[in-house]
Amino acid sequence: MIEFIGRKLLQKLPAETAHDLSIKLLGSSISNLVKNKPIKNPIELFGVKFTNPVGLAAGFDKNADAVAGLTNLGFGFIEVGTVTPRPQVGNPKPRLFRLPNNQAIINRMGFNNKGVDHLVSNLKKSRSNVVIGINIGKNKTTPNESAVNDYVHCFNKVHQLADYVTINISSPNTVDLRQLQETENLLKLLKELKKEQLQAEKSFNKYTPIVVKIAPDQDIESTKMIAKTIKNSGMDGIICTNTTIDKNNLKKDSHQKETGGLSGKPLLSRSNEVIKTVRAVVGEDFPIIGVGGILTEDDAMSKITAGANLVQIFTGFIYQGPQLIQSINTKLKKQTK
Ligand SMILES: Cc1cc2nc3c(=O)[nH]c(=O)nc-3n(C[C@H](O)[C@H](O)[C@H](O)COP(=O)(O)O)c2cc1C
Repeated sequence: MIEFIGRKLLQKLPAETAHDLSIKLLGSSISNLVKNKPIKNPIELFGVKFTNPVGLAAGFDKNADAVAGLTNLGFGFIEVGTVTPRPQVGNPKPRLFRLPNNQAIINRMGFNNKGVDHLVSNLKKSRSNVVIGINIGKNKTTPNESAVNDYVHCFNKVHQLADYVTINISSPNTVDLRQLQETENLLKLLKELKKEQLQAEKSFNKYTPIVVKIAPDQDIESTKMIAKTIKNSGMDGIICTNTTIDKNNLKKDSHQKETGGLSGKPLLSRSNEVIKTVRAVVGEDFPIIGVGGILTEDDAMSKITAGANLVQIFTGFIYQGPQLIQSINTKLKKQTK
């Protein structure tokens, strides 16, 4: 009930104000009022044990300011970030828009974050026992030619605190970031990261899996090439997908023409197609996390059917609230056992 009223009130506020307030509330002791039982639906992937397969997607808690509160909601894993080496303000506001008729969001946040050191200090303080993924990116002012330095810098700062690390090369809101998905750039980046990962394992006696998050907008051949490159570079998994830049076929909504990445319902089938393509290339044992357009438990099931091992939610969590975590788990438990 508290959750329901809270969500209705938040929906009355401008989108980014509502988001900032949610993070503040979830990061405060008030969040202990909304304590859902941890949902048990265990699964192991890339050597990590997840209490359940429903995670929070990157971008909701960019700075790990609200991990304790988010843990109380029942997620099986929480992906914080995207974080960059140095703090940055992101794009000018307004940059976050609800499209309620489409059950969608358009955002052009542009990796606004407080920098990797802030995130690390937050995670050192928080006592969460949920699986934590840390999503890393590059600063806006770092040219693609030296992007690898930003990713290596962040990886080395976070690997000891992360259950897995996500390499984000697919946000549409950092100019030319998606060029890092091109084979030559991708090979160079992942080769360096693999080296760092193995070095870190030697030095700290802890292997931190690395997954790569990809876009939904390239053609099928490019998706196949990206998937092959990621697997052959010794990465541990793929997250499909980030937001789309394709705004065709939307129902009428006042913000449908805004620039940025589209998430939510209109992304579901496109994102599922990417999962299917990737699954066909990487074989049945390679880990895939499916994200994009899950508004209901059936949407989540469609991702598992397409080939995902775990799912993440963002826009669905904004529209439906934390009860979506429970209903997806109930559905997946029934269908996959
Ligand atoms: C406001 C907003 C901010 C986001 N920020 C990030 C980010 O920093 N890093 C990232 O990898 N994905 C980011 N995403 C993409 C989501 O993690 C997810 O891939 C995408 O929204 C599709 O899932 P959904 O349809 O469930 O929202 C963001 C999405 C939204 C709506």
